Amino acid sequence: MKLKMKTCIISIINQKGGTGKTTTSVNLSSALAALGHKVLTIDLDPQGNLSYSLGFEEFENSIYNALTEETSFDKIVLKSENFDLIPADLKLADFELDLVNTDNRYFKLKTVFEKNNISNYDFVIIDCPPSISLLTLNALTASNYILIPMQFEVLSLQGLKMILKTYQNVVEKLNPDLQIAGILPVMYDKRRNVTKEIKEHIEQNFQVPIFKNFIRTDVKIIEAPSFGKSVIAYAPNSPSANDYLAFAKELTEE
Ligand SMILES: Nc1ncnc2c1ncn2[C@@H]1O[C@H](COP(=O)(O)OP(=O)(O)OP(=O)(O)O)[C@@H](O)[C@H]1O
Ligand SMILES: [Mg+2]
Repeated sequence: MKLKMKTCIISIINQKGGTGKTTTSVNLSSALAALGHKVLTIDLDPQGNLSYSLGFEEFENSIYNALTEETSFDKIVLKSENFDLIPADLKLADFELDLVNTDNRYFKLKTVFEKNNISNYDFVIIDCPPSISLLTLNALTASNYILIPMQFEVLSLQGLKMILKTYQNVVEKLNPDLQIAGILPVMYDKRRNVTKEIKEHIEQNFQVPIFKNFIRTDVKIIEAPSFGKSVIAYAPNSPSANDYLAFAKELTEE
């Protein structure tokens, strides 16, 4: 699949917790950068897991400042491995409260992108929180694509229905151009029967593409955040590093 935008903005979403959103944001960013693309990664989760995973715990500004005070990206962007990072921390939780009932509350991130020059980037990757919150809706309103990391378990199917409902609502009301890039199977074990059954069920019942590449379960990817690194930097020959590189190629090649 070839994503066509000049600057392609991708939200990594799944309102279910612990489905590999942050891990995918970190390692897809690192893999796209390794392929020569210029990447900006945005932590849009007050948990700040993405920032922490890349070794950033304390910073002066975060995405919160851009959203609420118009702080420009050049005062916020951090250099992380081979890509740029806009961090977040718990302060971002205030965003929801600050903006209840204000006009344009769904368009804040889109406006931030318009005011800052992001055209130098080939990809902007947004790590979303595990909820359909105002933050997530801002991400979807500002994006070209959504990408859904998912474990192939029975309970994931319910989650998928919810994501697709949200997607439809956003297309109708906020961002008619939003497209679904696809489902990325993560923590994938192709020997398990249930995995195969769920894959078939999705193919037959949902109009959503599943990427050919999948990300294997790998202990190296669990260790990498303690070193503040992507798995591609921490263990370049590990299964998951190879899987994310292969997936980045699938996403960008014809
Ligand atoms: N391929 C993998 N193999 C093994 N463990 C993995 C893999 N991908 C992710 N994990 C582990 O699964 C857990 C959840 O991953 P992650 O934090 O990326 O999910 P998340 O969707 O961002 O969570 P949240 O919903 O809280 O934001 C983490 O402990 C992570 O290390
Ligand atoms: Mg996360």
